Amino acid sequence: MDWFIGDFNHPAYFTIYADKEVEAGVEGPALAGLLNLPPGSRVLDLPCGWGRLHPHLRELGHEVFGGDLSPLNLKRHQLEHPAPLVRMDFRALPFRSASADGVFCAFTSWGYFASDEENLLQLLEFARVLRSGGVLLLDLAGRESLRAALSDVEGYWLDFPKEGYQERATWDRAKRRIRTERRCQGQRFRHDIWIPSDAEVREYLAGAGFRSIAAFGGLDGRPWEPQAERWIYRAIKP
Ligand SMILES: C[S@@+](CC[C@H](N)C(=O)[O-])C[C@H]1O[C@@H](n2cnc3c(N)ncnc32)[C@H](O)[C@@H]1O
Repeated sequence: MDWFIGDFNHPAYFTIYADKEVEAGVEGPALAGLLNLPPGSRVLDLPCGWGRLHPHLRELGHEVFGGDLSPLNLKRHQLEHPAPLVRMDFRALPFRSASADGVFCAFTSWGYFASDEENLLQLLEFARVLRSGGVLLLDLAGRESLRAALSDVEGYWLDFPKEGYQERATWDRAKRRIRTERRCQGQRFRHDIWIPSDAEVREYLAGAGFRSIAAFGGLDGRPWEPQAERWIYRAIKP
């Protein structure tokens, strides 16, 4: 079974990522601002997760539709932030072509698939559902910053007692993926994410038909730089 089907669809996921609920107060307004669409725009929050960024898109006056693979995340979203939601897979979006003004893809939600073709397909699907002139915001972890962060701890189990889990990350240099194993509530999880270079992100965005690709190196919209913790791309469907 693909790792991303089970790993996000477990109550322990909410424990491990509890901090992200707090961070949403800063990330949400900033990322929604970088999407930079006028009020009333139709925005697809893909994947929406448990909806932690949803209120910030709504605050800007957007019409927001959420989609995610995890029923557990969608259930929490509906309870905490009622909205039009759909269970979906990135590889076949259940939206009409050219129906959206924006696709909002936050928190390193690209690169989950094992094959290059499927990772490209996700971007092709984002392009398909956007109208001409529509905007994709793709918020990724910066590859160089991750490499630096892992350099001393790679392969070691780290304990997060307050949060209630242990974690071990391994950088697969050949495949350029990060494998993150976690132990929480008696369960084991393993994320396995392709962390592309800047050139690869741009190549794949262009390959999916996006143009006018701008990149930021932080939530405040500062210019992109290799060492930035976040690489945030804003790309236009021509
Ligand atoms: C890191 S979370 C980000 C969620 C949200 N964007 C946020 O910032 O909180 C990744 C999300 O992607 C969803 N996901 C994983 N694989 C998916 C797939 N193949 N199709 C659709 N959603 C998927 C997971 O269920 C999870 O909610």
